[in-house]
Amino acid sequence: MEQQLDEIESEAQRELAAAAGDRRRIEALGLKYLGRKGRMTQLLRSIASLAPEARPAAGLRANETKQRLSAAIEAALRAAERIERSRVERIDVTLPGRAPLCGTLHPITQISREICDIFERMGYDIVEGPEVEKDYYNFEALNIPKNHPARDMQDTFFVSEEVVLRTHTSPLQIRTMERHPPPVRVIAPGKVFRCDSDQTHTPMFHQVEGLLVDEKVSFGDLKGTLTAFVHQMFDEETRLRFRPSFFPFTEPSAEVDILCVICRGTGCRVCKQTGWLEILGSGMVHPAVFENVGYDTRRYTGFAFGMGVERVAMLKYGIDDLRKFFENDLRFLSQF
Ligand code: DAH
Repeated sequence: MEQQLDEIESEAQRELAAAAGDRRRIEALGLKYLGRKGRMTQLLRSIASLAPEARPAAGLRANETKQRLSAAIEAALRAAERIERSRVERIDVTLPGRAPLCGTLHPITQISREICDIFERMGYDIVEGPEVEKDYYNFEALNIPKNHPARDMQDTFFVSEEVVLRTHTSPLQIRTMERHPPPVRVIAPGKVFRCDSDQTHTPMFHQVEGLLVDEKVSFGDLKGTLTAFVHQMFDEETRLRFRPSFFPFTEPSAEVDILCVICRGTGCRVCKQTGWLEILGSGMVHPAVFENVGYDTRRYTGFAFGMGVERVAMLKYGIDDLRKFFENDLRFLSQF
């Protein structure tokens, strides 16, 4: 009996060693030795046929052997599983890494900054003001009294009788001049709001306002400044055209067109066959505006201008639908 047990055990250990790492083979060995018809099981059963006084000692020995075998098989199985798992989960350190997604500035932010940069290089300071604005700054002080027909041009969102969402960045002209005596040279970027929405209008858009006040400032200075700006923003070949216009806060007023960046003046869909594209409003600051901020109208003159950032971006990048800027489609936005 003892000899048999020793044989079975050493044979099993040999086979286990040979099967190391192979889960199927180890499982088969488990059955071969410890299964219902396994060799150990049969041996244990045969103890019943021994002489009664020999049974306890034989049973003890046999059970000890069985436990050792069973532990050895368990350990071999766990080792095999570890090897298998490490094969499946192996990390290939030569694979290229996943680059982190890197955001970019929104094209409107980029263009707005580019516009401001150009004027900063000409010595302008950047100023900002509130988007929720008093009627006084948005209209009244800019020479647009209550019931003035010019108020119809700007579809205003009213917060209350005296408070509006600013419809343009022009209130920054007043806020700047109230705080600083002349000379002033400022550029004011920001969001503006109008109750309007279609292919060419969104309820929120961006403007950049400019204001320069000093002694002896002329319309020629305005033309020179805006020409220098357009040449830097687009290119040296981009011609400008000043068209007489009306704004209550400037006199005289002019709208500025640039030669169509798409067809260069021959006429196309973008410029509606005119060869020209409107890019901004401008003019010489109206004396009534100076009076509202206490500037001496005999000593000082100045010019102001305001442009739509989306419009400049559309012209610069040849985009025909304004709404693309606000749909947040990364396939569109990440091109810039
Ligand atoms: N504020 C005007 C608008 O939103 C644009 C404008 C026109 C601004 C003439 C100016 C200016 O400073 O002088 O339509």
